[in-house]
Amino acid sequence: MEPMSLSRRELLTGTAGLAAASTAAAALARPTARRVLRVAHLTDIHVQPERNAQAGFEACLAEVQSLRDAPDLILFGGDNIMDAFRQEADRTKAQWDIFSRVVRNHCRTPHESVIGNHDVWAYGFGDKHKSDPRFGKVWPMEVLGLEKPYRTFDRAGWRFIVLDSTFREGTGYKARLDDEQFEWLKGVLKDTPRRMPILVVSHMPIMCACAMFDGDNEKSGNWQIPGAWMHIDARRIKDAFRGHPNVKGCLSGHIHLIDRVDYNGVSYYCNGAVSAGWWGGYYQECRYGYGLVDLYADGTFTNEYRGYDWKTAKA
Ligand SMILES: [Fe+2]
Repeated sequence: MEPMSLSRRELLTGTAGLAAASTAAAALARPTARRVLRVAHLTDIHVQPERNAQAGFEACLAEVQSLRDAPDLILFGGDNIMDAFRQEADRTKAQWDIFSRVVRNHCRTPHESVIGNHDVWAYGFGDKHKSDPRFGKVWPMEVLGLEKPYRTFDRAGWRFIVLDSTFREGTGYKARLDDEQFEWLKGVLKDTPRRMPILVVSHMPIMCACAMFDGDNEKSGNWQIPGAWMHIDARRIKDAFRGHPNVKGCLSGHIHLIDRVDYNGVSYYCNGAVSAGWWGGYYQECRYGYGLVDLYADGTFTNEYRGYDWKTAKA
């Protein structure tokens, strides 16, 4: 998402956000379920030299990793840096340097990364930097150690499908998969054993409710959700999930708001933002936080949005 103007953002700050679901309640309901993996989903970190963002990121990592029941895996959900989309190389490098340094010095947990729209370099300048070998997704792939912008990995009997939501369009982007990636996704769904549960991770939400409230989207008398906010190809993605009941959930960020949408047996979670309102306060009801995701052997999972102590970082 693009940050809103400071004045509007300030107007919207103040109240604490709501947890999407109660892990404790879910566990009580299924006392025999065996948890096989705990994941912390840290999305929209938007690290930058300003606004004490580095200290905030460090505070989040410290809190996540000091949980008595600490996660086995950290998922960086994209928009790891404030912005490379419309930034020159030196500014982009300065942001990635901070991100990489913090991860190197403060993240002792295995981690995986998703590419967000703000991680993509220089699409906002059109073809100005197109001949630079770092153009577009190459730079974030290099920094994050990725061979492809979309991929799968398996952990504890679960398959993670990591999507690349940023589709270049002029000097902007849309949230959608190109045809090649969509065919790849269908192939992965077909080739994954039917008993193997799947968690899909994308930066932009495939489906969400919170995008309705991110702006005056009803102003015209009709609800309008821009195609850069929520996957404009959601229809064909949810159709692709049909017939694959082992697709259990989808995680995303991008909106800096928190919600859960259950549709056709799949639970879609939008997991707020580590940076809340781009390190300038809460964003509407979204406080500084991350998603804590517990995966179970029986193919169920829970997702809870947890705040962390931002005051520590501000001190
Ligand atoms: Fe984003």
